Amino acid sequence: MEEKEKVIIFDTTLRDGEQAPGASLTSEQKLEVAYQLQKLGVDVIEAGFPIASPDDFRGVNLVAKNIKKSIICGLARCLKEDIQAVYKATKPAKLARIHIFLATSKIHLKYKFRKAEDEILSIAKKATRFARNLFEDIEFSPEDATRTERDFLYKIIETVIKEGAKTINIPDTVGYSYPQEIFSLIEDILNNVPNIKKAVISIHCHDDLGLSVANSLSAILAGARQVHCTVNGIGERAGNASLEEIVMILKTRKDVFKPFFTQINTKELLRTSRLVSALTGFVVPPNKAIVGANAFRHESGIHQDAILKKRITYEIIDPKEVGASQTQLVLGKHSGRHALAKRLRDLGFKLEEKKINTIFRKFKELADKKKEIFDDDLLALVEEEIRQKKKKWELVSVRIVTGTDITPLAIVKIKHKKDVYQAKSQGDGPVDACFKAIDKITKVKPKLLNYKLEAITRGKDAQGLVRLEIKLRNKVFSGIGASTDILEASVKAYLDAVNKAF
Ligand code: KIV
Ligand code: ZN
Repeated sequence: MEEKEKVIIFDTTLRDGEQAPGASLTSEQKLEVAYQLQKLGVDVIEAGFPIASPDDFRGVNLVAKNIKKSIICGLARCLKEDIQAVYKATKPAKLARIHIFLATSKIHLKYKFRKAEDEILSIAKKATRFARNLFEDIEFSPEDATRTERDFLYKIIETVIKEGAKTINIPDTVGYSYPQEIFSLIEDILNNVPNIKKAVISIHCHDDLGLSVANSLSAILAGARQVHCTVNGIGERAGNASLEEIVMILKTRKDVFKPFFTQINTKELLRTSRLVSALTGFVVPPNKAIVGANAFRHESGIHQDAILKKRITYEIIDPKEVGASQTQLVLGKHSGRHALAKRLRDLGFKLEEKKINTIFRKFKELADKKKEIFDDDLLALVEEEIRQKKKKWELVSVRIVTGTDITPLAIVKIKHKKDVYQAKSQGDGPVDACFKAIDKITKVKPKLLNYKLEAITRGKDAQGLVRLEIKLRNKVFSGIGASTDILEASVKAYLDAVNKAF
């Protein structure tokens, strides 16, 4: 019998995932995601890049203080101050890891660093040695490994293992590689780095050519035993390899990936995906594998008929395995605090009493306007509450005068701490008028990059959910707002994005 081999799931949703433009999370939101990742069973949580900003540091530190089952990892360049920042941020963690990276490809050496290979080798060596004084668990990434000269790659891997690196991560930083190439690369590393057996080989793939999952699986087949991935595949540019896809492929295609297993509780996959989508504002496309709304929907009559006869005719995964199709408890006006708290827990939230009380109050207000409250309605309420801490500007009221034959006029009142400000403005439409009135108060003029309105649930009384992105000082910020009134939802979303910029 073949020996069982564990594939370590290294989740980088809170680091590489959060690097996606507009996906930024507050420390509290990071912690919510981390709780759910722990419940999902991920082995390593890369919680951020502590030196990058005080906010990043706080996020990693908060996760390190509260998450006890997963290893908490922080990213660092090969610089003492980066390594020390990871040390301080992850100090409260029960299990801490540092992830050090340094670019090794000729392109990066020539254009980014203007340094020769031996200088890079010495920097990597010194940084790993320094980190060794502070960490037992060191992971090293030769950035842009897939475009690095092989002999240099072997040399740098050998060096950092000698200095104490326990995991060697191979990043396909620009998503350039393809499965056969990745297979040979991992095989070659195994055959040419003399001390490679002292480390675990990891793979980190980006999706620029849509091959990140295929490449990650190829690496596993060749000998990698850790995979970097993100929930919903979010990440820099086209994103990272999707956690849910990798895990479900390993589980579903046992014929190919026979000895491999992960310790992921797949029943938590859908819940995790929804939480990450709600908090980052990144919509999961309906046709997304495993977690898309249509992933288990059958439209054609022939398919429906066959499924009723035997599910496996058209379904390769039982939806229950990923946590789909569990009865969705619908709440309403008469539901109590207890039922709401239970549903929130089931949705993956670990909220303090105070927050549950506020959400309950908002839930009751919503239930007065809307007969049935679905999970998505709750997610919108929770999300608003979790964002609360960062609110600099808060909506007080909005009034619109509009019609088919007049230029819309908006009168907006917003609050900053205890002060209430009012402004009015005309605009191309009622939404534009509202945003212009807000700009007059906040004294910033963001560029609206996109605006999307959708109904959260079905029915005439459905809440409108607005997702938008603005650009301010060359940075992109996303915002979300929900309300049964679409103008109120728009203003909330705009303020949510503006608040992130302050
Ligand atoms: O894509 C990449 O190379 C990275 C490194 C920091 C590992 O994210
Ligand atoms: Zn990356």
